[in-house]
Amino acid sequence: MHVLISGGAGFIGANFVHQTLTDRPDCAVTVLDKLTYAGNLASLSDVSDRIEFVQGDVADAETVDPLVAAADLVVHFAAESHNDNSLRDPSPFVQTNLVGTFQLLEAVRRHGVRYHHISTDEVYGDLELDDPAKFTPTTPYNPSSPYSSTKAGSDLMVRAWVRSFGVQATISNCSNNYGPYQHIEKFIPRQITNLIDGVRPKLYGAGLNVRDWIHVRDHNQAVWDIIDRGEIGQTYLIGADGEMNNKQVVELILELMGHAPDDYDHVADRPGHDLRYAIDATKLRQDTGWEPQFKDFRSGLADTIAWYQANQTWWRPQKAAVEARYAAQGQ
Ligand code: NAD
Ligand code: TYD
Repeated sequence: MHVLISGGAGFIGANFVHQTLTDRPDCAVTVLDKLTYAGNLASLSDVSDRIEFVQGDVADAETVDPLVAAADLVVHFAAESHNDNSLRDPSPFVQTNLVGTFQLLEAVRRHGVRYHHISTDEVYGDLELDDPAKFTPTTPYNPSSPYSSTKAGSDLMVRAWVRSFGVQATISNCSNNYGPYQHIEKFIPRQITNLIDGVRPKLYGAGLNVRDWIHVRDHNQAVWDIIDRGEIGQTYLIGADGEMNNKQVVELILELMGHAPDDYDHVADRPGHDLRYAIDATKLRQDTGWEPQFKDFRSGLADTIAWYQANQTWWRPQKAAVEARYAAQGQ
Protein backbone atom coordinates (compact mmCIF):
# COMPACT_ATOMS: atom_id res chain seq x y z
CA MET A 1 0.00 0.00 0.00
CA HIS A 2 1.26 3.50 -0.88
CA VAL A 3 0.38 6.04 1.84
CA LEU A 4 0.59 9.80 1.36
CA ILE A 5 1.00 11.46 4.78
CA SER A 6 0.51 15.23 4.82
CA GLY A 7 2.15 17.08 7.72
CA GLY A 8 4.49 14.15 8.37
CA ALA A 9 7.27 16.43 9.64
CA GLY A 10 5.03 17.74 12.45
CA PHE A 11 4.40 16.24 15.88
CA ILE A 12 1.65 13.67 15.33
CA GLY A 13 2.51 13.11 11.66
CA ALA A 14 6.17 12.26 12.40
CA ASN A 15 5.08 9.80 15.08
CA PHE A 16 2.63 8.33 12.54
CA VAL A 17 5.41 7.90 9.96
CA HIS A 18 7.60 6.06 12.50
CA GLN A 19 4.74 3.84 13.67
CA THR A 20 3.71 3.01 10.12
CA LEU A 21 7.23 2.02 9.08
CA THR A 22 7.59 -0.15 12.20
CA ASP A 23 4.17 -1.81 12.20
CA ARG A 24 3.57 -1.99 8.43
CA PRO A 25 6.89 -2.54 6.67
CA ASP A 26 4.98 -3.33 3.47
CA CYS A 27 3.74 0.30 3.24
CA ALA A 28 5.46 2.74 0.88
CA VAL A 29 5.39 6.16 2.57
CA THR A 30 5.41 9.59 0.92
CA VAL A 31 5.40 12.66 3.19
CA LEU A 32 4.10 16.00 1.89
CA ASP A 33 5.04 18.84 4.25
CA LYS A 34 5.55 22.56 3.73
CA LEU A 35 8.11 22.70 6.58
CA THR A 36 6.53 25.70 8.27
CA TYR A 37 7.99 26.81 11.62
CA ALA A 38 6.23 23.68 13.03
CA GLY A 39 7.75 21.16 10.62
CA ASN A 40 11.14 19.68 11.42
CA LEU A 41 12.98 17.34 9.05
CA ALA A 42 15.11 16.20 11.99
CA SER A 43 12.01 14.35 13.23
CA LEU A 44 12.35 12.07 10.18
CA SER A 45 16.15 11.91 9.89
CA ASP A 46 16.37 8.31 11.18
CA VAL A 47 13.93 7.12 8.48
CA SER A 48 14.91 9.44 5.62
CA ASP A 49 16.14 6.52 3.48
CA ARG A 50 12.80 4.69 3.90
CA ILE A 51 10.42 7.46 2.80
CA GLU A 52 9.92 9.84 -0.07
CA PHE A 53 9.86 13.40 1.27
CA VAL A 54 8.24 16.21 -0.74
CA GLN A 55 8.44 19.77 0.52
CA GLY A 56 5.25 21.45 -0.64
CA ASP A 57 1.94 23.05 0.27
CA VAL A 58 -1.30 21.06 0.62
CA ALA A 59 -3.14 24.14 -0.64
CA ASP A 60 -1.28 23.98 -3.97
CA ALA A 61 -3.34 21.89 -6.42
CA GLU A 62 -0.44 21.24 -8.80
CA THR A 63 1.73 19.84 -6.02
CA VAL A 64 -1.04 17.74 -4.54
CA ASP A 65 -2.55 16.17 -7.66
CA PRO A 66 0.26 13.84 -8.81
CA LEU A 67 1.06 12.78 -5.24
CA VAL A 68 -2.55 11.81 -4.58
CA ALA A 69 -2.81 10.09 -7.97
CA ALA A 70 0.12 7.83 -7.00
CA ALA A 71 -1.30 6.93 -3.56
CA ASP A 72 -3.75 4.28 -2.31
CA LEU A 73 -4.45 6.18 0.91
CA VAL A 74 -4.10 9.81 2.05
CA VAL A 75 -3.82 10.57 5.78
CA HIS A 76 -4.15 14.33 6.24
CA PHE A 77 -2.36 15.70 9.32
CA ALA A 78 -1.04 18.97 7.85
CA ALA A 79 -2.53 21.99 9.57
CA GLU A 80 -1.79 25.19 11.38
CA SER A 81 -2.32 23.72 14.83
CA HIS A 82 -1.77 26.25 17.61
CA ASN A 83 -4.63 28.24 19.14
CA ASP A 84 -2.42 31.06 20.44
CA ASN A 85 -0.99 31.64 16.94
CA SER A 86 -4.49 31.67 15.46
CA LEU A 87 -5.43 34.50 17.82
CA ARG A 88 -2.38 36.49 16.62
CA ASP A 89 -3.01 35.89 12.88
CA PRO A 90 -5.84 33.68 11.60
CA SER A 91 -4.84 34.00 7.94
CA PRO A 92 -2.57 30.90 7.53
CA PHE A 93 -5.20 28.86 9.39
CA VAL A 94 -7.81 29.69 6.76
CA GLN A 95 -5.37 28.97 3.95
CA THR A 96 -3.92 25.68 5.19
CA ASN A 97 -6.80 24.18 7.17
CA LEU A 98 -9.64 25.13 4.81
CA VAL A 99 -8.07 25.61 1.35
CA GLY A 100 -5.53 22.83 1.96
CA THR A 101 -8.24 20.33 2.89
CA PHE A 102 -10.31 21.45 -0.10
CA GLN A 103 -7.43 20.75 -2.50
CA LEU A 104 -6.82 17.30 -1.03
CA LEU A 105 -10.53 16.46 -1.21
CA GLU A 106 -10.69 17.51 -4.84
CA ALA A 107 -7.65 15.36 -5.63
CA VAL A 108 -8.95 12.23 -3.85
CA ARG A 109 -12.27 12.78 -5.66
CA ARG A 110 -10.56 12.96 -9.07
CA HIS A 111 -8.42 9.89 -8.45
CA GLY A 112 -10.75 7.75 -6.29
CA VAL A 113 -8.27 7.51 -3.42
CA ARG A 114 -9.19 6.55 0.19
CA TYR A 115 -8.85 9.54 2.57
CA HIS A 116 -8.57 9.83 6.35
CA HIS A 117 -9.03 13.25 7.90
CA ILE A 118 -7.28 14.10 11.17
CA SER A 119 -9.19 16.55 13.33
CA THR A 120 -9.60 17.75 16.90
CA ASP A 121 -12.19 17.61 19.69
CA GLU A 122 -11.96 21.42 19.78
CA VAL A 123 -14.54 21.59 16.96
CA TYR A 124 -17.17 20.87 19.64
CA GLY A 125 -16.36 23.98 21.70
CA ASP A 126 -16.03 23.42 25.43
CA LEU A 127 -17.82 21.84 28.40
CA GLU A 128 -18.46 23.29 31.86
CA LEU A 129 -16.02 22.14 34.54
CA ASP A 130 -18.81 20.54 36.60
CA ASP A 131 -20.69 19.03 33.63
CA PRO A 132 -20.64 15.20 33.67
CA ALA A 133 -21.10 15.21 29.85
CA LYS A 134 -18.40 14.32 27.33
CA PHE A 135 -18.22 14.98 23.59
CA THR A 136 -19.82 12.30 21.41
CA PRO A 137 -20.04 12.01 17.59
CA THR A 138 -23.46 13.74 17.72
CA THR A 139 -22.37 16.75 19.81
CA PRO A 140 -23.10 19.91 17.75
CA TYR A 141 -20.10 21.79 16.36
CA ASN A 142 -19.46 25.01 18.32
CA PRO A 143 -15.81 26.06 17.81
CA SER A 144 -14.33 28.96 19.80
CA SER A 145 -11.09 30.03 18.07
CA PRO A 146 -9.84 30.66 14.54
CA TYR A 147 -7.93 27.35 14.85
CA SER A 148 -10.93 25.25 15.90
CA SER A 149 -13.32 27.00 13.50
CA THR A 150 -11.09 26.26 10.51
CA LYS A 151 -10.74 22.64 11.63
CA ALA A 152 -14.54 22.46 11.99
CA GLY A 153 -14.99 23.86 8.48
CA SER A 154 -12.56 21.30 7.08
CA ASP A 155 -14.46 18.43 8.79
CA LEU A 156 -17.74 19.66 7.32
CA MET A 157 -16.23 19.74 3.84
CA VAL A 158 -15.15 16.11 4.25
CA ARG A 159 -18.71 15.12 5.20
CA ALA A 160 -20.10 17.00 2.21
CA TRP A 161 -17.59 15.45 -0.22
CA VAL A 162 -18.59 11.99 1.06
CA ARG A 163 -22.29 12.66 0.61
CA SER A 164 -22.21 14.65 -2.64
CA PHE A 165 -19.34 13.00 -4.48
CA GLY A 166 -19.02 9.58 -2.87
CA VAL A 167 -15.48 10.28 -1.61
CA GLN A 168 -14.22 7.32 0.47
CA ALA A 169 -13.37 9.15 3.67
CA THR A 170 -13.35 8.80 7.44
CA ILE A 171 -12.80 11.51 10.08
CA SER A 172 -11.27 11.33 13.55
CA ASN A 173 -11.48 14.00 16.25
CA CYS A 174 -8.86 13.45 18.93
CA SER A 175 -8.20 15.09 22.30
CA ASN A 176 -4.89 16.71 23.38
CA ASN A 177 -1.83 14.62 22.48
CA TYR A 178 1.49 14.39 24.33
CA GLY A 179 4.72 12.57 23.54
CA PRO A 180 8.00 13.00 21.63
CA TYR A 181 8.49 15.48 18.75
CA GLN A 182 5.79 17.92 19.98
CA HIS A 183 6.61 21.55 19.18
CA ILE A 184 7.78 23.48 22.25
CA GLU A 185 5.11 26.17 21.78
CA LYS A 186 2.57 23.63 23.14
CA PHE A 187 1.73 23.38 26.84
CA ILE A 188 3.59 20.26 28.04
CA PRO A 189 6.86 20.64 26.09
CA ARG A 190 6.96 24.38 26.84
CA GLN A 191 6.97 23.67 30.58
CA ILE A 192 9.48 20.81 30.33
CA THR A 193 11.93 22.88 28.26
CA ASN A 194 11.44 25.90 30.54
CA LEU A 195 12.48 23.78 33.52
CA ILE A 196 15.50 22.38 31.64
CA ASP A 197 16.46 26.05 31.05
CA GLY A 198 15.89 27.01 34.71
CA VAL A 199 12.71 28.98 33.93
CA ARG A 200 9.45 28.56 35.92
CA PRO A 201 6.47 26.96 34.11
CA LYS A 202 3.75 29.37 32.91
CA LEU A 203 0.13 28.64 33.69
CA TYR A 204 -2.59 30.59 31.87
CA GLY A 205 -5.05 32.19 34.32
CA ALA A 206 -5.94 30.04 37.33
CA GLY A 207 -4.90 26.83 35.56
CA LEU A 208 -8.24 25.11 36.12
CA ASN A 209 -8.95 24.44 32.43
CA VAL A 210 -9.25 20.71 31.75
CA ARG A 211 -7.74 18.81 28.81
CA ASP A 212 -8.24 15.08 28.05
CA TRP A 213 -4.65 13.86 27.51
CA ILE A 214 -3.79 10.95 25.22
CA HIS A 215 -0.38 9.59 24.23
CA VAL A 216 0.38 10.28 20.56
CA ARG A 217 0.97 6.58 19.89
CA ASP A 218 -2.50 5.68 21.13
CA HIS A 219 -3.91 8.36 18.81
CA ASN A 220 -2.02 7.00 15.82
CA GLN A 221 -2.97 3.39 16.55
CA ALA A 222 -6.62 4.51 16.58
CA VAL A 223 -6.12 6.19 13.19
CA TRP A 224 -4.88 2.91 11.68
CA ASP A 225 -7.74 0.99 13.35
CA ILE A 226 -10.24 3.39 11.76
CA ILE A 227 -8.56 3.04 8.36
CA ASP A 228 -8.65 -0.76 8.71
CA ARG A 229 -12.05 -1.26 10.30
CA GLY A 230 -13.97 2.04 10.31
CA GLU A 231 -17.01 2.70 8.18
CA ILE A 232 -16.75 5.12 5.25
CA GLY A 233 -18.43 8.46 5.98
CA GLN A 234 -18.23 8.03 9.76
CA THR A 235 -16.71 10.29 12.40
CA TYR A 236 -14.79 8.68 15.29
CA LEU A 237 -13.83 10.43 18.52
CA ILE A 238 -10.44 9.41 19.92
CA GLY A 239 -9.72 9.83 23.64
CA ALA A 240 -8.28 7.78 26.49
CA ASP A 241 -10.16 9.09 29.57
CA GLY A 242 -7.21 11.30 30.51
CA GLU A 243 -8.89 14.39 31.97
CA MET A 244 -6.62 16.62 34.08
CA ASN A 245 -6.55 20.34 34.74
CA ASN A 246 -3.51 22.36 33.69
CA LYS A 247 -2.43 22.99 37.29
CA GLN A 248 -2.34 19.25 37.98
CA VAL A 249 -0.23 18.67 34.86
CA VAL A 250 2.26 21.41 35.80
CA GLU A 251 2.50 20.06 39.36
CA LEU A 252 3.25 16.57 38.01
CA ILE A 253 5.93 17.90 35.62
CA LEU A 254 7.50 19.81 38.53
CA GLU A 255 7.49 16.72 40.74
CA LEU A 256 8.96 14.47 38.04
CA MET A 257 11.71 17.04 37.37
CA GLY A 258 12.58 17.43 41.07
CA HIS A 259 10.98 20.81 41.85
CA ALA A 260 8.53 22.05 44.49
CA PRO A 261 4.87 21.72 43.36
CA ASP A 262 4.24 25.49 43.56
CA ASP A 263 7.35 26.51 41.58
CA TYR A 264 5.38 28.04 38.66
CA ASP A 265 4.01 31.43 37.52
CA HIS A 266 0.45 32.44 36.65
CA VAL A 267 0.46 34.46 33.40
CA ALA A 268 -2.16 36.22 31.27
CA ASP A 269 -5.06 33.97 30.29
CA ARG A 270 -5.81 33.08 26.66
CA PRO A 271 -8.73 35.11 25.23
CA GLY A 272 -11.77 32.86 24.75
CA HIS A 273 -9.94 30.03 26.59
CA ASP A 274 -12.00 26.80 26.32
CA LEU A 275 -12.77 25.48 29.80
CA ARG A 276 -12.88 21.74 29.39
CA TYR A 277 -12.62 19.03 26.73
CA ALA A 278 -13.66 15.41 27.38
CA ILE A 279 -14.09 12.57 24.89
CA ASP A 280 -16.51 9.64 24.92
CA ALA A 281 -14.69 7.11 22.70
CA THR A 282 -17.33 4.35 22.98
CA LYS A 283 -18.01 4.25 19.24
CA LEU A 284 -14.31 3.91 18.37
CA ARG A 285 -13.84 1.11 20.91
CA GLN A 286 -16.97 -0.75 19.81
CA ASP A 287 -16.51 -0.42 16.05
CA THR A 288 -12.75 -1.01 15.82
CA GLY A 289 -11.74 -2.78 19.05
CA TRP A 290 -9.19 -0.01 19.79
CA GLU A 291 -7.86 0.21 23.36
CA PRO A 292 -5.29 2.71 24.64
CA GLN A 293 -1.93 1.19 25.66
CA PHE A 294 -0.48 4.22 27.50
CA LYS A 295 -2.93 4.25 30.41
CA ASP A 296 -0.45 5.58 33.00
CA PHE A 297 -0.10 9.34 32.36
CA ARG A 298 2.63 9.66 34.99
CA SER A 299 4.95 7.19 33.26
CA GLY A 300 4.08 8.50 29.77
CA LEU A 301 4.94 12.00 30.98
CA ALA A 302 8.19 10.79 32.58
CA ASP A 303 9.21 9.22 29.24
CA THR A 304 8.31 12.46 27.45
CA ILE A 305 10.43 14.51 29.88
CA ALA A 306 13.34 12.11 29.30
CA TRP A 307 12.93 12.55 25.53
CA TYR A 308 13.18 16.37 25.75
CA GLN A 309 16.18 16.06 28.09
CA ALA A 310 17.94 13.71 25.65
CA ASN A 311 17.03 15.62 22.46
CA GLN A 312 17.98 19.22 23.20
CA THR A 313 19.49 19.72 19.74
CA TRP A 314 16.01 19.00 18.31
CA TRP A 315 14.22 21.82 20.18
CA ARG A 316 16.82 24.31 21.34
CA PRO A 317 17.10 26.29 18.06
CA GLN A 318 13.41 27.30 18.44
CA LYS A 319 13.28 28.08 22.17
CA ALA A 320 14.28 31.76 22.24
CA ALA A 321 11.90 32.78 19.44
CA VAL A 322 8.96 30.87 20.98
CA GLU A 323 9.51 32.48 24.38
CA ALA A 324 9.91 35.95 22.81
CA ARG A 325 6.49 35.55 21.14
CA TYR A 326 4.90 34.54 24.45
CA ALA A 327 6.64 37.32 26.38
CA ALA A 328 5.26 39.91 23.93
CA GLN A 329 1.73 38.94 24.97
CA GLY A 330 2.40 38.64 28.70
CA GLN A 331 2.57 34.86 28.69
P1 NAD B 1 2.10 20.40 14.12
O1 NAD B 1 1.88 21.87 14.10
O2 NAD B 1 3.13 19.83 15.05
O3 NAD B 1 2.50 19.89 12.65
C1 NAD B 1 1.85 20.36 11.50
C2 NAD B 1 2.69 19.97 10.30
O4 NAD B 1 1.97 20.38 9.11
C3 NAD B 1 4.06 20.63 10.25
O5 NAD B 1 5.04 19.68 9.87
C4 NAD B 1 3.91 21.70 9.17
O6 NAD B 1 5.13 21.99 8.50
C5 NAD B 1 2.89 21.06 8.25
N1 NAD B 1 2.14 22.04 7.46
C6 NAD B 1 1.55 23.17 7.93
N2 NAD B 1 0.97 23.83 6.90
C7 NAD B 1 1.17 23.08 5.79
C8 NAD B 1 0.79 23.22 4.43
N3 NAD B 1 0.09 24.28 4.01
N4 NAD B 1 1.15 22.26 3.57
C9 NAD B 1 1.89 21.18 3.97
N5 NAD B 1 2.28 21.01 5.24
C10 NAD B 1 1.92 21.95 6.14
O7 NAD B 1 0.66 19.76 14.37
P2 NAD B 1 0.25 18.44 15.17
O8 NAD B 1 0.08 18.77 16.59
O9 NAD B 1 1.12 17.33 14.75
O10 NAD B 1 -1.22 18.21 14.57
C11 NAD B 1 -1.41 17.40 13.41
C12 NAD B 1 -2.90 17.29 13.13
O11 NAD B 1 -3.57 16.73 14.27
C13 NAD B 1 -3.58 18.63 12.88
O12 NAD B 1 -4.53 18.45 11.85
C14 NAD B 1 -4.27 18.95 14.19
O13 NAD B 1 -5.41 19.75 13.99
C15 NAD B 1 -4.64 17.56 14.68
N6 NAD B 1 -4.78 17.38 16.12
C16 NAD B 1 -3.77 17.75 16.97
C17 NAD B 1 -3.89 17.50 18.34
C18 NAD B 1 -2.78 17.85 19.30
O14 NAD B 1 -2.94 17.66 20.51
N7 NAD B 1 -1.62 18.31 18.84
C19 NAD B 1 -5.06 16.92 18.84
C20 NAD B 1 -6.07 16.55 17.93
C21 NAD B 1 -5.91 16.77 16.59
P1 TYD C 1 -2.12 23.83 24.19
O1 TYD C 1 -0.99 22.88 24.29
O2 TYD C 1 -1.91 25.11 23.48
O3 TYD C 1 -3.33 23.00 23.55
P2 TYD C 1 -4.90 23.44 23.30
O4 TYD C 1 -5.01 24.90 23.32
O5 TYD C 1 -5.13 22.88 21.93
O6 TYD C 1 -5.67 22.74 24.36
O7 TYD C 1 -2.64 24.18 25.65
C1 TYD C 1 -3.14 23.20 26.53
C2 TYD C 1 -3.69 23.92 27.74
O8 TYD C 1 -2.63 24.54 28.46
C3 TYD C 1 -4.67 25.03 27.40
O9 TYD C 1 -5.68 25.07 28.42
C4 TYD C 1 -3.82 26.29 27.49
C5 TYD C 1 -2.84 25.96 28.57
N1 TYD C 1 -1.48 26.57 28.50
C6 TYD C 1 -0.90 27.12 29.65
O10 TYD C 1 -1.50 27.16 30.74
N2 TYD C 1 0.38 27.61 29.57
C7 TYD C 1 1.09 27.59 28.40
O11 TYD C 1 2.26 28.05 28.39
C8 TYD C 1 0.48 27.04 27.22
C9 TYD C 1 1.23 27.02 25.91
C10 TYD C 1 -0.81 26.53 27.31
